[in-house]
Amino acid sequence: MSGVNYSEKIPNNVNLVGDRTLQRALEHWQPHFIEWWKGMGPSDFQSADVYLRTATSVDAQGWATYGTVKMPDYRWGIFLADQQADRTIGFGDQMGQPVWQQVPGEYRSTLRRLIVTQGDTEPASVEQQRLLGHTCPSLYDLRNLFQINVEEGRHLWAMVYLLHAYFGRDGREEAEELLARHSGDADKPRILTTFNEPISDWLSLFCFTYFTDRDGKYQLKSLAESAFDPLSRTCRFMLTEEAHHMFVGETGLGRVVKRTLEVMKEIGSDDPARVRAAGAVDLPTLQKYLSFWCSSSLDLFGSEISSNSAANFANGLKGRPDESQYEDHVLREKTLALVTPEGEQTVPMLNALNEVMRESYLKDCEIGLKRWNRQIERAGFSTRLTLPSSRFRRTIGAWAGQPVDPQGKMLSKEEYEKQLYSWIPSEADRAFVHSLMQKVVEPGKMAAWIAPPDRGINNLAVGYEYVKLH
Ligand SMILES: [Fe+2]
Ligand SMILES: [Fe+2]
Repeated sequence: MSGVNYSEKIPNNVNLVGDRTLQRALEHWQPHFIEWWKGMGPSDFQSADVYLRTATSVDAQGWATYGTVKMPDYRWGIFLADQQADRTIGFGDQMGQPVWQQVPGEYRSTLRRLIVTQGDTEPASVEQQRLLGHTCPSLYDLRNLFQINVEEGRHLWAMVYLLHAYFGRDGREEAEELLARHSGDADKPRILTTFNEPISDWLSLFCFTYFTDRDGKYQLKSLAESAFDPLSRTCRFMLTEEAHHMFVGETGLGRVVKRTLEVMKEIGSDDPARVRAAGAVDLPTLQKYLSFWCSSSLDLFGSEISSNSAANFANGLKGRPDESQYEDHVLREKTLALVTPEGEQTVPMLNALNEVMRESYLKDCEIGLKRWNRQIERAGFSTRLTLPSSRFRRTIGAWAGQPVDPQGKMLSKEEYEKQLYSWIPSEADRAFVHSLMQKVVEPGKMAAWIAPPDRGINNLAVGYEYVKLH
């Protein structure tokens, strides 16, 4: 187990003090990060006392402590999961050889790109969520938002450490760029589209943490398999923190469903207009939000057929999530049948890995829907929430720009355009959801559109004052 030295400027378990040059470079980047946090992080809550967890070790049995801090004083640090002795490459053409402790020259630019792309999403999500504090449904939720925000900040640190430690001058430049691009910025947007979508209401936040953070989980899991050992160790520890983000999404959406069902029972109707008039999110609107964020997140896995992902796998840079669950780790012999708008194609499995990941991601997404549908069924209503087809509303890959409905059926362009806003939120739907977003900050109180959580954080009461506003 590696403890963390908190007497240092940058908490870490990578013996930063033993590498003065790297330490100085990161200490130089640190004030730029704080400046970014204050300018682009949560707006207006920088002096609030927030009950947050902070990583203090990478021990699975007790890796974090909880306490009250002001966010700008959060101890962002660098934590890598412990090195596994004699770890070998688990997939690709170099399977069985020792993992790399340094970046091989021939993979330098590809690895840098993978790290920068992952790194870019972390501060992007903080920027997307920066105004949400003003409309929090409770102090419990406000605290969870800030917990996610500081941890995404730490994930940025995780990637910046790799860039500084292993990629020299290029890496340092990329680290600066990670603070220079901004979500939704017309001139310097974030790299991936989903991370430029505004998140201006809490229903979107819960969808984002359910669908988009789950994409993050899959990306981190596949990078945790990497032959570049420092990247693998970094991602393994990030996954520990990531679990909470998806918990916020899953329980958040579950609480919305619960409250909506209470209202539906009270009024004895599932009529969307009446549910709305009673101050809850009607299920058809919830379905639209699910379809919007799920389809947007599906693009993050990339094209169905990809020579880049084939090369990344063959070279040992990026595996499949939980690579050890598969039998064949080389994939030179396997093929996959893919349906594209041109018909069925048989492609080498190596080239279809994005699709393999997307399919297992969708299975993971189903779990929450099953639970919510059971809640709806038990309440005696016939609506069922569903995930859209992976062909719906795609902007990347074989199905990009195709007029396909959420069931995966091809339509005419006119029909598609006519119906689009019966599948994803219209302006009017968004305006309605926004109208529900009233700030509730009395300890223990909840906004009317969401049920309270089953339990509080770290065994505290739901009514605990998780954020002390001044
Ligand atoms: Fe993250
Ligand atoms: Fe996350």
